[in-house]
Amino acid sequence: MNKEFPIYLRPIELEDMEYRTRWLNDQEINSMLLITPPLSVSDSMKWYQRVLSDPNREDLTICKTEHNLPIGIIGISNISSEHLTGEIYIYIGEKSEWGKGYAKLAIERLLDFAKSSRGIRKLYLYTLDCNEKARRIYKDLGFSYEGIYKSHVYKNGIYQDLHIQSIFV
Ligand SMILES: CC(C)(COP(=O)(O)OP(=O)(O)OC[C@H]1O[C@@H](n2cnc3c(N)ncnc32)[C@H](O)[C@@H]1OP(=O)(O)O)[C@@H](O)C(=O)NCCC(=O)NCCS
Repeated sequence: MNKEFPIYLRPIELEDMEYRTRWLNDQEINSMLLITPPLSVSDSMKWYQRVLSDPNREDLTICKTEHNLPIGIIGISNISSEHLTGEIYIYIGEKSEWGKGYAKLAIERLLDFAKSSRGIRKLYLYTLDCNEKARRIYKDLGFSYEGIYKSHVYKNGIYQDLHIQSIFV
């Protein structure tokens, strides 16, 4: 991974599970994701063992180049080797690092990686109705709006629409 940039992606490690647990238990972060808290470090370790042996996903830690500090996690799940598609997820867990362009950089890196390492043709993602910010980021990066699943998930005390965006890489 190119270290000339302020952030880089590396394969997720067992040592990252304490960060993952803290980040996913943060209410502001969790409220935008389809993961139900609370989560223990042991839950994250079990998740790590599971994803490590799953050939249909890639899970990467977003690190700041300065001090190699982990700040978030990005990945592709549901990779289909038949359709050459995959589903993106991302969270920048260190909220003090929000708004610095790191999510955009990380997603750009992931698109390159998906194409060059996995031969992926199309990436897609879902956002909760309340997550206008994430939709804007993906739009700015060239993702198209595909549509909506109406009142599809129960999150933050209400039934919410799920929006679908995608990009051909
Ligand atoms: C969404 C998330 C990954 C963004 O991380 P980030 O590093 O702060 O994002 P960036 O700095 O790369 O980009 C932020 C952009 O969002 C825009 N933005 C910020 N708040 C916004 C809002 N309320 N509505 C619309 N756009 C907003 C900013 O203007 C910025 O765009 P710019 O480059 O044109 O200035 C981070 O907030 C996060 O982890 N959230 C919780 C989990 C989540 O929502 N994940 C995505 C689910 S698919």
